[in-house]
Amino acid sequence: MKQLKIGASLLAPRAAQGGWRHPQAGSFIQQPLTYFTEVMQIAEQGKLDFMFLPDYYHIFATTPEELTAHSNVWLEPVTLLAAMSAVTTRIGLVATLSTTYHEPYHVARMIASLDQLSGGRAGWNIVTSRGETEAVNFSSGHRPTVAERDEHATQFIALVQALWRSWEPTAIVEDRLRGIFAHASQVHPMQHKSKWFAVEGPLNVAPSPQGAPVCMQAGKSPAFRARAVKNTEVLFTQLNDLQEAKAFYADVKQRATHPERVLILPGLQVIVSATEAEAQQKKRDYERFDTVALRIAKLMGLDMSGLTLATPLPKQATKDNEIYQTVLKVAQQKGLKTIGELYNHLTAQNSHLTLVGTAEQIADTMTQWLNEEAADGFIFIPHLLPIAMTEFVQQVIPVLQRRGVFRADYEGATLREHLALPLTTI
Ligand SMILES: Cc1cc2nc3c(=O)[nH]c(=O)nc-3n(C[C@H](O)[C@H](O)[C@H](O)COP(=O)(O)O)c2cc1C
Repeated sequence: MKQLKIGASLLAPRAAQGGWRHPQAGSFIQQPLTYFTEVMQIAEQGKLDFMFLPDYYHIFATTPEELTAHSNVWLEPVTLLAAMSAVTTRIGLVATLSTTYHEPYHVARMIASLDQLSGGRAGWNIVTSRGETEAVNFSSGHRPTVAERDEHATQFIALVQALWRSWEPTAIVEDRLRGIFAHASQVHPMQHKSKWFAVEGPLNVAPSPQGAPVCMQAGKSPAFRARAVKNTEVLFTQLNDLQEAKAFYADVKQRATHPERVLILPGLQVIVSATEAEAQQKKRDYERFDTVALRIAKLMGLDMSGLTLATPLPKQATKDNEIYQTVLKVAQQKGLKTIGELYNHLTAQNSHLTLVGTAEQIADTMTQWLNEEAADGFIFIPHLLPIAMTEFVQQVIPVLQRRGVFRADYEGATLREHLALPLTTI
C-alpha cells in the first residue's frame, strides 16, 4: 500500500501573529531548548519523516503596532536543528538556508555538518530570499538581482550537491597502521569558476551517511516546477483544492526524469477533536487571536480598536477609499457578513489545505489525496505548539497507521531512507 510522507514545521505561524497569546500556546523565549526538545520528541513519537524550520532574514512587523502585538523572533535553523539532533534519534532535520545570502561552500558545509551530527538525517530547504525587507540586512556586494536569482540558485544548488559528493563514500579509511586517513584518489575538487562562483573544493566535511543530504524547495508556479524537478527531491507547496492538486501533481511528475524521486508535499493545517462540532468550536477559539484578519480591517481603513473576527462588516461604504469600496463590494456579492468570513474568503485561494474535524475525517482526506495522486504526503503546519503537534500525533497518526498508510515505526535510520529516496541526488 502507498505510504504517506509526513514532515512538519517547527514553528507555528499563527503563534507568530496573535496566536502567542492563546492560553495553550507554548513559549520558547525563556527556555528554547526545553520547548523545542518537547516538540521534536512528540513528532518523533509520531514517526514523522522530518521537522523543518522555515526561515526569513528579517522581522515581519512593518509598523510599531505589529512589533507590539506579534512575535517577531525565532531561532537560526542550523543552530537549532544541530541542538535537536542531540535529543532525537530518527526524525529528519531540514534547515532553510538562502542561496542569496550565503556562499555554496557555507551551505554545503553547514548542512553536511548537521548531517554528520545526526547520522544522516539532514535536509536543506532551499530559498532564494526575494524580499527587499531581507536585502536591507546585508551589506551590498556582488549579489544577483531578483531577475537573476533563479539562474544563480540553479548553479548554487549544483555546487552544493557537488561539494557533498566531493568525497566518495569509501574515501575515508582511517587506517592507523598504514597511516592512511583517506584515499586521495577518491577526493574530487571541482575547480569551478563561473559568472557567480569560484569554488575549488573539496569540502572539509566527511561524506554523508545518506549519500547526500535531501534537498527541498517551496513554490507553486510553472517556472518553479520546471526548475525544481531538476535538483530538488521534496517540493513543498500550497494547495487546497483536490482537482488543482491532482493537476499540479501530474504536471510535476511528468516533468521529472525520475518521478518517484520528486515528492510533492502540500502544507496541511489540522484542527482535530472528538466531534466535528467540537473541532469547529476549537477553530473559532484559535481565531480569537488571529490578527491577520485584522489586517484586512486595517487595509480597509477601519478603526481596529475592539475589532474581532466576529465583528460585522459595515453594510454601506462609509469611506472614500478604493480598496475599502472594492472589498466591501466583494463581501456583499458573496453574502459575507463578518470580518472573519471576509478573511476566510480572501485567503481561500491562498492558503494551505485546512482540515477541521475528527481524526477519521482528517485521515480520510489525507488518504484520498494520496490515493488519487494529489500528494505524496504533507507538511503539517501546527496552529499552536506544542498542543497541535500532540493532538496530531495522538489522534490522527494512529488512524493513518491502522489504515496502513503511515509507518508504525521507522524502517531506516536516515532521512533519505524515511522518504524512500535513492542514495543519489537527482
Ligand atoms: C509553502 C511555501 C513556503 C515557503 N516558505 C518560505 C520560507 O520559509 N522562506 C522563504 O524565504 N521563502 C519561502 N517561500 C518562497 C519560496 O522559497 C519561493 O521563493 C517562491 O515560492 C517562488 O516560487 P514561485 O515561482 O512558485 O512563486 C515559500 C513558498 C511556499 C509556496
